[in-house]
Amino acid sequence: MTTARTTAAADLLIGKLFGGAVEDPFPLYDELRELGDGIHVLEGLNAHMITRHADVRRISGDHKTFSSEIFEGSSPSIHNPDDPEHRRFIDTASQLFMFHDPPRHTRGRSTFRHAFTPNAVRGWQAEVERAADRSLARYHAGQEIDMMTGPAAEVPVAVIAAILGVPDEVQPKFREWSYGYASTFDPMVLGDDRDAAIRASLELFDYLAGLIAQRRAEPADDLVSHMLGTETFDGDRLSDGEMLSQLALLLVAGNETTTNLIGNGVTLLLDHPETRAALMADPARIPGAVEEMLRFEPPLHYSGRKVTVDTEFNGRHFPAGSMVLLSLGAANRDPRVYDDPLRFDIDRTEPHLSFLYGIHFCVGAHLARLEGRVFFEKLLATYPDFAAGAEPAQRRRLNIVARGWDKRPVRL
Ligand code: HEM
Repeated sequence: MTTARTTAAADLLIGKLFGGAVEDPFPLYDELRELGDGIHVLEGLNAHMITRHADVRRISGDHKTFSSEIFEGSSPSIHNPDDPEHRRFIDTASQLFMFHDPPRHTRGRSTFRHAFTPNAVRGWQAEVERAADRSLARYHAGQEIDMMTGPAAEVPVAVIAAILGVPDEVQPKFREWSYGYASTFDPMVLGDDRDAAIRASLELFDYLAGLIAQRRAEPADDLVSHMLGTETFDGDRLSDGEMLSQLALLLVAGNETTTNLIGNGVTLLLDHPETRAALMADPARIPGAVEEMLRFEPPLHYSGRKVTVDTEFNGRHFPAGSMVLLSLGAANRDPRVYDDPLRFDIDRTEPHLSFLYGIHFCVGAHLARLEGRVFFEKLLATYPDFAAGAEPAQRRRLNIVARGWDKRPVRL
């Protein structure tokens, strides 16, 4: 196929993918990944889309050439500069270390380095179990519920709240604020909806600022106190403003993603009764199943990077200042890495890219895995007969980055 024809075919597929409301993007990913070299120009956006596993891994592993200084132009940066509330929001949101390169990134991330290791995360198992038990206990066998507004939403927020030491009575508010904040990352939330999301975020920030002040005055055995006592990699301490944006980052990065892991995972088990039976018979296989849920249906489908210098990549020219859009959904089903990639197979061992790779590898990966394992153990043990609900499930279609369900009815 000539380059011109490859480009025209890719444009058509990309038009469909980003043209709105795609129910199932995976067949489009498959075609784009196998077309030409799997790298495609995003017309008018000064960007390339990257679809193959090896290329996504290589780019995310090279933070010098492919920078994360991309707050400008990101969804949370959408604001009205004349509005003082919006400006106050941007002051904190722009400090998220996810949007920075070293040394600023290292400075922020280094205060998490002891808190999210596999060992440290094991210490939170009791909190995760309590959150899952409490959520599932609110329902009864035979009841029809929406998984997305029910347990899939409740468990991740309750876990983070417990880790931060947010008292039970504040949790409903905390959940509402967290959703508000997370929705600033949705490019479709604009106008009055964005105003409301920013207001909720500011309430969250004020609450977290109070928590930081409290723990500074009276340290406890919790994450905030621990982080306040941890030196950054350069032997300094974080300011209160930096601490605030760190804690806010945990909420925005950890809630909706884990909610979607649960919603996607429940759906995969409904669609694969043989896998579900295997997990009931041998719950020790649940961690493998969670890994495969993450590969097969990644909660985040894209990540972006900015090219720092003119770069030749696989014979392609990426100009300095252009963007690359990493397609995790396409990379996770690359047949160069996975045997029979369209099969949901909980015995696979090849690593997926759902937590990405390199210096921005997900801080909360061990915690998310723990939450997934505990949740599915408890769900299968408490409601072994759970089935699809009477109402049809509805895919989340507008936000193409966060892949999940708007509605996932289930009869427990
Ligand atoms: C299944 C659930 C989750 C998925 C799929 C996920 C996925 C990701 C991905 C792909 C990134 C890299 C973003 C990029 O560099 O472009 C990331 C970063 C991050 N994640 Fe997660 N995440 C999950 C859960 C969590 C949880 C539970 C937490 C914390 C409580 C968390 C905290 C973070 C933080 C702080 C970063 C920024 C890391 C950095 O820039 O160095 N994530 N996550």
